Amino acid sequence: MTQAAFDSLKQKHPWPETIGLKAWDYTLGGGGRQLIDVIIRERKPAFMLEIGCFLCASTKRWLSLDSRIKVIGVDPWDDGLIEQCRRYVGRPALTRAYPDREVQEQFAADIETQGPFPTALANLHGFEGRFVPVRGLSPDALYMLKETGFIPDLIYIDANKQAVDLEVCYELWPDAQITGDDWHWGRTKGFPMRQIIEDFAEKHGFRIESDHATWVLQRG
Ligand SMILES: C[S@@+](CC[C@H](N)C(=O)[O-])C[C@H]1O[C@@H](n2cnc3c(N)ncnc32)[C@H](O)[C@@H]1O
Repeated sequence: MTQAAFDSLKQKHPWPETIGLKAWDYTLGGGGRQLIDVIIRERKPAFMLEIGCFLCASTKRWLSLDSRIKVIGVDPWDDGLIEQCRRYVGRPALTRAYPDREVQEQFAADIETQGPFPTALANLHGFEGRFVPVRGLSPDALYMLKETGFIPDLIYIDANKQAVDLEVCYELWPDAQITGDDWHWGRTKGFPMRQIIEDFAEKHGFRIESDHATWVLQRG
């Protein structure tokens, strides 16, 4: 059923042309993703849902870990990401990845001229058969996925820090393992995503495992 849904989503959400594009394997993730690596290696989820993919650096990580895992990615990949990437030039996170200012400028220029969506998919070259990009917003896109019959085993939330993403994932796919990023995001704001996850875990009886930015909901 899920394979049929995956195949049908693949038809409806084709990849953009990526030939000749420069890939930028740049992640906005904040560490601790080895927690997710362990789940992929040991529990071998067949289907994963990633909400918030950006340039698909995290997605590439998941796809590289197990040659059988298939991933649906939900992200609008809208042009707002162009301005966002431009703002990173000279800032610590981009400078850590690309110390040379000229490379940072090239990064921002490529996102603008190539477009965020084609650039993200260029980063997944070689994984064409195992990744479907669904351009849209959570939670609406999640209901659409559910209607196709898609059932993820593993969910990774790295989007807009909204409680509704967790609630809808759990409502639609109660057996999926829910994980994500942003555990340590927003110190000055009181760690808003952490609050959301803690409230959710308490309400539904999950235990939280965390490391740096990464969190995993465990049963029991
Ligand atoms: C922090 S970035 C994701 C980083 C990516 N996972 C990585 O490791 O590089 C957040 C992404 O979430 C997307 N986004 C924001 N709101 C969203 C929503 N409601 N549904 C899906 N994606 C969303 C943005 O377009 C952006 O690409």
